[in-house]
Amino acid sequence: MNILLTGASGFIGRALTTALSAAGHLIKPVCRSEGVDFNQMLSVEHWLPLLEDVDAVVNCVGIIGEHGGQQFTVLHTQAPSALFRACAHAGVRRVLQISALGADETAFSAYHLSKRSADNCLRSLDLDWFVLRPSLIYGPGGKSADLFMRMATLPWIPVIGNGQQTLQPVHISDVVLTVMKSLTSPVAKQTLDIVGPDTVTFAEWLQTMRTARGLPRARMAHIPFWMAMAAAYVGRYFNPMLQPENLRMLQRGYRADFTPLVTFLGRHPQTASAALFFSQSLPARRAS
Ligand SMILES: NC(=O)c1ccc[n+]([C@@H]2O[C@H](COP(=O)([O-])OP(=O)(O)OC[C@H]3O[C@@H](n4cnc5c(N)ncnc54)[C@H](OP(=O)(O)O)[C@@H]3O)[C@@H](O)[C@H]2O)c1
Repeated sequence: MNILLTGASGFIGRALTTALSAAGHLIKPVCRSEGVDFNQMLSVEHWLPLLEDVDAVVNCVGIIGEHGGQQFTVLHTQAPSALFRACAHAGVRRVLQISALGADETAFSAYHLSKRSADNCLRSLDLDWFVLRPSLIYGPGGKSADLFMRMATLPWIPVIGNGQQTLQPVHISDVVLTVMKSLTSPVAKQTLDIVGPDTVTFAEWLQTMRTARGLPRARMAHIPFWMAMAAAYVGRYFNPMLQPENLRMLQRGYRADFTPLVTFLGRHPQTASAALFFSQSLPARRAS
């Protein structure tokens, strides 16, 4: 297949490029370093030239916090919606959207709401669409995974309040496998939550990461929510991930039933183990 892959230089995009190329697909990468800025791709006409000879589209562009000219409405909603409409126009039927767990009717953050708008646009089109909603993804090279690993190796692990916020982390290889299956699945028009098999607390997740590093369990530094929020208001100027709204999402906690994913993949998603934190262990299969 010829696959237009947006966000090809990112964490998910790089893992997909490796796996899809190994499986014999041809990747047309889209990101700013390839000369395509989503901020300039807001109409169907902008996208049509890029869709020539394309069999499928996977959209992996996203930001975790707004900064500079990078805004949720443009990057998560307007440019992807124009891309999806262009696919309908050009007859590129298979379109996969990497959304996020929580981009549903309960969404309250600008991050989730902007994702949900694009998801709904895709669902409204007569295409063989997939809306894939991963939870926190771990594996080498992920921005949030790297930040959490850095936090986990501190002598005292900082957590918000009691650290009991719920997570359902999923390994990058399960995200890759879900994308690969979505590209060829005979049953399309599906929304799938890509979640791991285990629900853990934030505190326990950081201890697990610590163990993966070969370090003993550490004590927790319990930061009151209000203090963490105050720190985030300052921290966001240094790291876009440190947004007050991201803390609210962490505090809210997200989990989902993983049985639809098991049915779709034909196997369970992977249980977190020390080795997986440093491995992509991607499936390598030839395209038919
Ligand atoms: N990682 C996770 O845990 C996780 C979990 C759930 C959902 N997701 C979603 O999955 C998607 C990808 O996540 P990721 O972890 O791979 O993110 P990432 O590593 O930050 O990659 C983001 C990608 O978006 C591209 N991009 C950013 N701004 C752009 C622009 N203006 N024009 C064109 N491309 C632009 C980046 O390329 P350049 O900077 O080179 O342009 C990069 O390729 C996001 O939508 C994210 O919300 C991720």
